[in-house]
Amino acid sequence: MKFLSVFSTSLLALCRLTAAAEELQLAKRASLQQVSSFGSNPSGAKMFIYVPNNVAAQPAIVVAIHHCQGTGTSYYQSTPYARLADQYGFIVIYPESPYSGTCWDVSSTATLTHDGGANSNSIANMVTYTLGKYSADASRVYVTGSSSGAMMTNVMAATYPEIFAAGSVYNGVPAGCFYTGTVNGWNSTCSQGNSHATPEQWAATVHKMYPGYAGAYPRLQIYHGGSDTTLYPNNYNETIKQWAGVDGYNYQAPTQTLGGTPIQQCTKYVFGDRLQGIYCPSIGHTVPVQGEEDLKWFGIIVSKTSFNVAASQR
Ligand SMILES: *[C@@H]1O[C@H](CO)[C@@H](O)[C@H](O)[C@H]1NC(C)=O
Ligand SMILES: *[C@@H]1O[C@H](CO)[C@@H](O)[C@H](O)[C@H]1NC(C)=O
Repeated sequence: MKFLSVFSTSLLALCRLTAAAEELQLAKRASLQQVSSFGSNPSGAKMFIYVPNNVAAQPAIVVAIHHCQGTGTSYYQSTPYARLADQYGFIVIYPESPYSGTCWDVSSTATLTHDGGANSNSIANMVTYTLGKYSADASRVYVTGSSSGAMMTNVMAATYPEIFAAGSVYNGVPAGCFYTGTVNGWNSTCSQGNSHATPEQWAATVHKMYPGYAGAYPRLQIYHGGSDTTLYPNNYNETIKQWAGVDGYNYQAPTQTLGGTPIQQCTKYVFGDRLQGIYCPSIGHTVPVQGEEDLKWFGIIVSKTSFNVAASQR
């Protein structure tokens, strides 16, 4: 009896110690902050930012864009980027949609235009603010998102190609596919996978969003679930066609096909240095965020094998 109580007392002490250590760990983490003023914000989007306590000198920036019904805070909580930022010293921007239902405006002419004064413009201004305030590295700015955030990732790549070096897209649609001519519209022809175009036509849609731009477009990884009944799987194929058209790749002839990559249910198709598709037949809406894979693709995590590739791709 005595022995037991001594035992449980010391167990209790151990628990207290562990809890204290965990608290210390938590106290050391930075927190998500809202930035109320980041420059011109024509569409009223909100900006949240995570700057880790051990932020790197000239840090990289990852813009992580939520899905419909999400918020800046919910995407911060549901994705691994902030935890990875603690580890690798980059900054994460979490934009938040101003619309009820919190989908992004990927349908108006203004948002589909460089400096058009809509959501894409607001998000670009969040990046400009962060580059200035934290002396961040303008050559290492990346964008990612899920669903509506994935659509917006494609739109950011098309409207602000000079800002983003790379991006990853989780179950989106091609840039311009959701066009309705109205703010925050829903294009069911596109969502149901019935918008078809050639690579040349999709590329022309991209080029029209920033006429006169002659530089490179971001390197992109396109994830899609083949059982997606919200944004039908044909959107994967059309998105691949779009960026293959922009980058000059043959979308029908991947140079590499890697089964079970990066997770068991998926196959990775490599079209060249600038474009990879990751198609996961049994997964619906959406493919779970692969945080470390994203960082490898961006070049924030530099492994021995990816070093030469990352170094040659700005
Ligand atoms: C939906 O988008 C497609 C292109 O993806 C376009 O052809 C069609 O006109 C759009 N629908 C509406 C209602 O604007
Ligand atoms: C889209 O691409 C995937 C992966 O390459 C392929 O399995 C599927 O048949 C394609 N779907 C269409 C409609 O072309």
